[in-house]
Amino acid sequence: MNDLKLKENDLKKQQEWTSLLQDILYLRAGNKQPKAYVRTYGCQQNVADSEMLKGMLIEMGCALTDDNNDADIIIFNTCAVREHAEDRVFGNVGALKALKKKKPSLFIALCGCMMEQEHIADKIYKSFPYVSLVFGTHMLHRFPEMVFQAVTTGKRVVERGLDEGKIYEGIPQHRDGSFKGWLSIMYGCDNFCTYCIVPHVRGRERSRHSSTVLAEANEMVKSGFKDITLLGQNVNSYGKWLDEKTDFPDLLRSVAEIDGDFWVRFMTSHPKDASKKLIDVMAENPKICNHLHLPFQCGSNEILSRMNRRYTREKYLDIVEYAKNKIPDLSITSDVIVGFPGETYEDFKQTLSLIREVGFTSLFTFIYSPRVGTPAASFDDPVSHEEKAEWMSELLKVQEEIAAKRCAGMVGKEYRVLVEEQAREGILNARTQNNIVVELHGSADLIGTFQNAAITEARNWILRGKIV
Ligand code: SAH
Ligand code: SF4
Ligand code: F3S
Repeated sequence: MNDLKLKENDLKKQQEWTSLLQDILYLRAGNKQPKAYVRTYGCQQNVADSEMLKGMLIEMGCALTDDNNDADIIIFNTCAVREHAEDRVFGNVGALKALKKKKPSLFIALCGCMMEQEHIADKIYKSFPYVSLVFGTHMLHRFPEMVFQAVTTGKRVVERGLDEGKIYEGIPQHRDGSFKGWLSIMYGCDNFCTYCIVPHVRGRERSRHSSTVLAEANEMVKSGFKDITLLGQNVNSYGKWLDEKTDFPDLLRSVAEIDGDFWVRFMTSHPKDASKKLIDVMAENPKICNHLHLPFQCGSNEILSRMNRRYTREKYLDIVEYAKNKIPDLSITSDVIVGFPGETYEDFKQTLSLIREVGFTSLFTFIYSPRVGTPAASFDDPVSHEEKAEWMSELLKVQEEIAAKRCAGMVGKEYRVLVEEQAREGILNARTQNNIVVELHGSADLIGTFQNAAITEARNWILRGKIV
């Protein structure tokens, strides 16, 4: 299953369409360089895909813009994980109607996870006639060809692929950042948690060859990246289908052994596959950040089983305890779903107790959202949304206290931080290895550099410090 790379002649064909598009898009934009606006919804996987879209657009001769009013090409890369994410897309696509009216040559395309669902692609096609191109996640590598088809025929193009389990190497890529970046090590997911749409829209799990990943990591380090996140829906099952004998801890170690001053992170870890070997590798390598994002979803074994998560609360706490003992000052973060169908207040209380027991640095919290085509969507769900929202506020209060304590415990200590951005005039946001943001006084020329910061103050979960 490993030689499924984009064949050279396929790539060449895409490059031919790309060259033809340079003139076509230039003319369409009124004899000037076309501007492209790419908006990304959802997770880092989509961010990484958008970086490829941007790479291809640049090769078509486009300049990138952050202002959709100014754009000749607008692309929304969508997320299907919850209803709220989908609603935002529908709203925002609706709002493009006025823009298209003002500028009839505007080219609008929609792609990403939402488009892999038939009922959504149909709805988009019917409701938004001014959308010229709709394509799913498996069609990304054919973007030049699809744009070419749509602009030269004037007909609307819809391409939603079957999953062929392929990996396409060699697609142009334009990274958003210059010192902090994403590196996909695998695609898709085989876990089929009963609430989750991701395996349905992203297809089967497949890993990139370790030599390809390492070559890209090397290149990133050489070009100045300081913070690299290895990406996959479940990085812990990396390598399962490869013809080389490797696993995620091996890959992580190899990345950390690349020469240079940088940090490496990874997400997401599935608790069922998080091994002691992973923790040992983290503990042994100072470049691997002491941050573990380990989604537990729910604290009740009954619900975990109905979620098809394939671990128990006890197993989760086991690996957490092992990690805390091995890695000093480890930050653990997580995802939680509140109000899974059939979850009772008793189940929910077990989520609260797990949160207290682990002491997470931060949590991504979601109220369960039914997804068409997933098993949980047909489970009985007697608890009202209002009640679930109350549970959620209770959870957030508990977590706030924990996070505040965690931050307060950092005051008076010194941490190495990576300066990421200017928060406001004279104030910088920096991040510790364990993924906590620290506000510092300093000038913008420090962005992208490592500094040592003494933590002087903790306000709830925000830290302030000074460069030493
Ligand atoms: N592969 C990652 C998560 C991908 S989706 C993992 O297994 O951890 C990111 C998060 O969205 C999930 O961890 C889950 O907490 C949440 N999520 C996914 N489907 C959801 C749904 N139907 N309703 C509410 N939250 C959901
Ligand atoms: Fe979804 Fe579960 Fe796969 Fe994560 S592991 S993407 S939650 S099915
Ligand atoms: Fe959303 Fe697709 Fe990611 S559904 S969470 S963008 S994999």
